[in-house]
Amino acid sequence: MRTQVGIIGAGPAGLMLSHLLHLQGIESVILETRTREEIEGTIRAGVLEQGTMDLMREIGVSQRMDREGQAHHGVEFRFNGKGHRINMYELTGGKHVMVYAQHEVIIDLVKARVDRGGELIFNVGDVSLHGVDTDKPTIQFRRDKDGELEELVCDFIAGCDGFHGPSRPMIPSSIRTEYDKVFPMGWLGILAEAPPSAPELIYCNHDNGFALVSTRSPEIQRMYLQVDAKDNIANWSDDRIWSELQTRLQTSDGWNLIEGPIFQKNIVAMRSFVCDPMQYGRLFLAGDAAHIVPPTGAKGLNLAISDVRVLAKGFEDFYKSNSRDVLNRYSEICLRRVWKAERFSNYMTSMLHRFETHSPFERRIQLAELDYVTSSRIGLTSIAENYVGLPIEW
Ligand code: APR
Ligand code: PHB
Repeated sequence: MRTQVGIIGAGPAGLMLSHLLHLQGIESVILETRTREEIEGTIRAGVLEQGTMDLMREIGVSQRMDREGQAHHGVEFRFNGKGHRINMYELTGGKHVMVYAQHEVIIDLVKARVDRGGELIFNVGDVSLHGVDTDKPTIQFRRDKDGELEELVCDFIAGCDGFHGPSRPMIPSSIRTEYDKVFPMGWLGILAEAPPSAPELIYCNHDNGFALVSTRSPEIQRMYLQVDAKDNIANWSDDRIWSELQTRLQTSDGWNLIEGPIFQKNIVAMRSFVCDPMQYGRLFLAGDAAHIVPPTGAKGLNLAISDVRVLAKGFEDFYKSNSRDVLNRYSEICLRRVWKAERFSNYMTSMLHRFETHSPFERRIQLAELDYVTSSRIGLTSIAENYVGLPIEW
């Protein structure tokens, strides 16, 4: 079997890349270890930057997002029992975000590929990469986990296989630098059947720890609580979760958190990670395969999408004008934006969470930081422009 671009992983990065390439008449094959049902059902985050939203519209996969997603023009920071609205729309000259779950984006992109006859092979096993520093790199795999060993011969390989995939280790460790920071806390996330408690997202700093109120639909709400990274979900009964959310989110003006049956809960770890470079020979990493952000800035999905925008342009220039300029600079172009998103995610995480190691002095500095950014126009603008998404600088 052969193709122009062999894509490992059907997450947002791999699926979006395949669709962008298709629109330019470039062939690709996606190999994915999980089943279609699994990738379409995994609950992840759900905030699309302005640029991600614009791209979905530009490439014709936005019908459901435009119908079911929720455009948010502002966001609230809450601390000392008081809310402060950041009017992103006004501060950024008309930009905003869309709350639309990542698995819905996956459903839309898989459908777009399948409807156009795209080749997606789910449930593969034993995926391995070969000859990535030659002109004919190959991917070996087995269908249905234990079928015959098959080979996909490619011009290029896109490693869109997430943090634990086999692509990143193919960049020799002698030329690969990995930057890593593991945070001492995790997020306990819930989905509950309830109407929204607020029209926009609430990022809340409280002495007991961070809390986040997000949404999925008029009937389903998504909320998070900072917990210890090693905590066990079995320690968190529904009553304990609601009681802790009520405590952290309480305000002095009588705001009401609406409760409802919890039907999904899990704890996610928090880390920052960057691999430099993101390319080697004919292998290009995109998304979580190359970098991870803690979820506080809502950047994970958006970074995956901006990487593949650059990569798709690189392949387009290669096939249409025989130019390797963007491909050669792929890592450099992406990492500039990645590091800024790492900075913002790290900043939001530091400003909004409780740190066991903080002295009373550091705790007061944290509150002063929140007071500053929510009362200075420059502070507000900085949060707003990062939250709606920075441009790709070519
Ligand atoms: N072979 C084929 N596919 C693989 C392999 C493998 N050996 N290993 C992993 N995969 C698949 C995973 O099953 C997953 O579906 O690669 C896909 C990677 O998708 P994501 O983890 O969603 O990564 P990415 O597309 O970069 O999107 C980043 O997803 O994890 C969230 O928070 C993250 O929002 C961010 C976004
Ligand atoms: C979500 O809705 O899941 C969500 C929203 C904002 C974040 C992270 C996750 O920062």
